[in-house]
Amino acid sequence: MKIAILTGGGDCPGLNAVIRAIVRKGTFYYNDEFIGFLEGWRGVLENTVRTLDLDAVAGILPRGGTILRTSRTNPAKKENGLESCIENLKKNGVEALIAIGGDDTQSVSQKLFERGVKLVGVPKTIDNDLSGTDFCFGFDTAVTIATEAIDRVHTTAEAHNRVIVVEVMGRDSGWIATYSGVAGGADDILIPERPFNVEEIADILKRRHSRGRYFSVIVVAEGAKLADDAGQETAGQKKDEFGHVRLGGIGNTLASEIEKRTGFETRAVVLGHIQRGGSPTAFDRMLATRYGVGAIDLVHQGKFGQMVVLRGNHIQSIPIMESIAKTSHVSPELIDVALSLQDRRGNKKSAA
Ligand code: F6P
Repeated sequence: MKIAILTGGGDCPGLNAVIRAIVRKGTFYYNDEFIGFLEGWRGVLENTVRTLDLDAVAGILPRGGTILRTSRTNPAKKENGLESCIENLKKNGVEALIAIGGDDTQSVSQKLFERGVKLVGVPKTIDNDLSGTDFCFGFDTAVTIATEAIDRVHTTAEAHNRVIVVEVMGRDSGWIATYSGVAGGADDILIPERPFNVEEIADILKRRHSRGRYFSVIVVAEGAKLADDAGQETAGQKKDEFGHVRLGGIGNTLASEIEKRTGFETRAVVLGHIQRGGSPTAFDRMLATRYGVGAIDLVHQGKFGQMVVLRGNHIQSIPIMESIAKTSHVSPELIDVALSLQDRRGNKKSAA
């Protein structure tokens, strides 16, 4: 069978491991032939392809990024974009397409599937906010990097009697913040699921400092919001082709608000793309490989319009539609774990 692969949206450690697994199993077990479209949906739209054979995937397992490169191109936003994609798939003799990407990429997958394209999806996002799957590959790597950064920030915060705010990724869900914040022993964790009050944070910090701890570390997701202000902090107003603005700034805003209210010297650190770059952890290599094997099996089972997912350590599949219909948020149980470790005694606003 001739199969095409693409990687779309923000990159993620483990993308190459998925590509490698698909090509190896497809070649060894199914006698498939592969091509890769370059830069996500842009490659399908503009018909830019490369051959993907065993040589092309040799040595890529531990490599970050994606050998197919990526973009946030949305063919549905271009005139006849979806039709051009279908045309180019036909031109290349593609019998099935494997799209590796998050909700934006998979929203295009769904549209093409509805137009008859034989396609399967692989979930990808370091934010871990795709619903229907327990974990996306790349998330564990991001959490590992963020946790190490929090550990490092701890020692310098302590040496200088400072508060340090660490801003991590997470547009609509605070998975990275919650996992790295708990693992790194942060004194407060602020996530989009739970808008926060600066006074409340200042009280927590004052209480902690009055107990003789003269430094603190706060972890904030880039998409976290102030309770009395509906909006997220953005870096400009420009939107990508899926309608998202670039987030950023909450770490610095929070740091200056904390300093104003407590008098404690406060700094902000923005981890940004450091969380997305570099080699995947062993967990992500394993998960990405399982997704790749699962995806090529789905193609040969003829389960098109489906996406591989991880549920309770089993690889299963669900309709792509089901996954893109809603965002996966941090569960109340995990939020409770994080809150249980913070000193909110005497803080009326957070008693609930
Ligand atoms: O892919 C998700 C994500 O990492 C978000 O957490 C973040 O807001 C966004 O991508 C950043 O995108 P870009 O790399 O295009 O700035």
